[in-house]
Amino acid sequence: MKSPNLKILAVLFAGLTLAACEQADDSASSADSAPPNRYQEVHQIARGQAVYTQHCLACHGTEGKGPPGDWRIRDAAGRFPPPPLDDSAHAWHHPTAVLLEVIREGSPGGQGNMPAWKDTLSEQQMQDVVAYIKSLWSDEVYQLWWKMERQSLEP
Ligand code: HEC
Repeated sequence: MKSPNLKILAVLFAGLTLAACEQADDSASSADSAPPNRYQEVHQIARGQAVYTQHCLACHGTEGKGPPGDWRIRDAAGRFPPPPLDDSAHAWHHPTAVLLEVIREGSPGGQGNMPAWKDTLSEQQMQDVVAYIKSLWSDEVYQLWWKMERQSLEP
């Protein structure tokens, strides 16, 4: 099922990506509020890891490191390979809401190879797997992500 807001999401996606890249130049120490402790919910991370191992690992690789090869190079069909979800690629450039939307709905506009999970996973399982993904990021990247997350939450 295609929802009409996917186009908006794709635009949002591109915009956030640019914003995040600009912010990546800032030093992490300039963040003015500490991010929430992402390791507090250890059980949630463990549950998320189980979901990841079962449903995501085959494409996104061990500990989100991605498959071998360059995730930025499209295949013959013009589609991107599964990117790493650790902090070496792009996943951390997205606020929680966008990560959840990609997991729920799959590739924006159905234009890629990321499956939609909304019929397979519960909302809780999707949140758990996002908690696991965040646990794979370095402290510095998590700090940068948090600055962007906060901006995305501002009205
Ligand atoms: C069949 C292979 C496949 C499986 C299984 C898969 N993905 Fe993906 N995923 C992809 C591809 C391919 C992309 C890139 C999407 C695009 O280019 O449209 C992607 C993109 C993503 C993104 C966006 C990353 C970014 O940098 O913007 C997230 C988040 C993600 N996947 C999470 C998951 C999670 C969580 C699971 C398991 C519940 C999962 N994926 C399972 C193939 C897969």
